[in-house]
Amino acid sequence: MASIDIIRQLSAKEALLRAFNNQNIFVIRKIYMDDNADQIMTATYTKTELGAESFEADTMEYLGSGYGGSVYRLKDNEGKPIDKVLKVVRTFPNTEKGRPFKYSELLVNTPVADRKKFYPGSLKSMTMNRIQANFFKELLRIKDKDEIPNGLPIIYKYAEGKLPSSLRNEMITAKKESEKKFPEDAYVSLWIMEYIPCVYKNEFCGKIPMRRKWTVSNLKNKSYTKENEAYGEVATFVLNDMGYVMKDVVNPRNFGIRNNGEIVYFDPFLIPYPSQELNTNEKLMASLLYGFDGEEKFQKAIDNGNYFKYRSF
Ligand SMILES: Nc1ncnc2c1ncn2[C@@H]1O[C@H](COP(=O)(O)OP(=O)(O)OP(=O)(O)O)[C@@H](O)[C@H]1O
Ligand SMILES: [Mg+2]
Repeated sequence: MASIDIIRQLSAKEALLRAFNNQNIFVIRKIYMDDNADQIMTATYTKTELGAESFEADTMEYLGSGYGGSVYRLKDNEGKPIDKVLKVVRTFPNTEKGRPFKYSELLVNTPVADRKKFYPGSLKSMTMNRIQANFFKELLRIKDKDEIPNGLPIIYKYAEGKLPSSLRNEMITAKKESEKKFPEDAYVSLWIMEYIPCVYKNEFCGKIPMRRKWTVSNLKNKSYTKENEAYGEVATFVLNDMGYVMKDVVNPRNFGIRNNGEIVYFDPFLIPYPSQELNTNEKLMASLLYGFDGEEKFQKAIDNGNYFKYRSF
């Protein structure tokens, strides 16, 4: 079967174009690179029916999801999985028509009892996603990549905007549930990151013992030293260089291991820190995301150094 794969440097806005035959399907993938609004557009056509309504695409493989988003492993033009994944999360924009997004309106329109709830599309999960998306976007922009600790995944591309229906179709093809989770025209952030081969689901390829208690109180134990060391480096960088604190890094489903044994925290729950340095929206978002005792708990742990030694939150 003929297969063409053209990667070209196009004009500034259309940096990457791939077109290929994948079984009976013709796939055109464009990645628009524009500093203000990056867009990824994937259009898929059957050979006979250009513009057909239901596409049978096979460009990615579903890996997993949570309240946050969904993660898919990308495939090459022969349909073989590659070492990159796409994470798509539902959120709201940072700005609207050049002004800060009216987050306070969203907040007051959400009943108090619902503000703490986590489900796809809930205020809290959209807020968590907004912050995580900002973090990975900023990580991608760091010029000196050597500064970034090994414990963070490599980020290749970042984009946000209304979910293109062609991409939504591919997500649904890869996993039916994406249909409900990502309504048409949902506002999303997405990024392409490094595929981490050893995760909880495959028992970390046997690289670390599985039968341990994954609770905060157990994490000082020696068997966690390697994860804690990687965490310490990441936590230091993320706080000092990027201005965030992390939680939910205890959850073994939120980190993985590279083939060379390095631990990678690919799904940290991030909160911008400290709040006196934040703008109004960031302050409101941070206060929603902090749990009981809020920022104070983090401040104490940072001050006494425990925050960097082991995962306390
Ligand atoms: N970079 C990656 N490489 C390999 N697998 C990944 C990667 N990122 C995520 N996954 C897989 O997908 C699953 C879900 O990813 P992730 O934890 O980022 O989603 P989430 O929606 O933010 O989850 P939640 O918010 O519920 O923690 C992970 O548990 C993992 O199995
Ligand atoms: Mg997760």
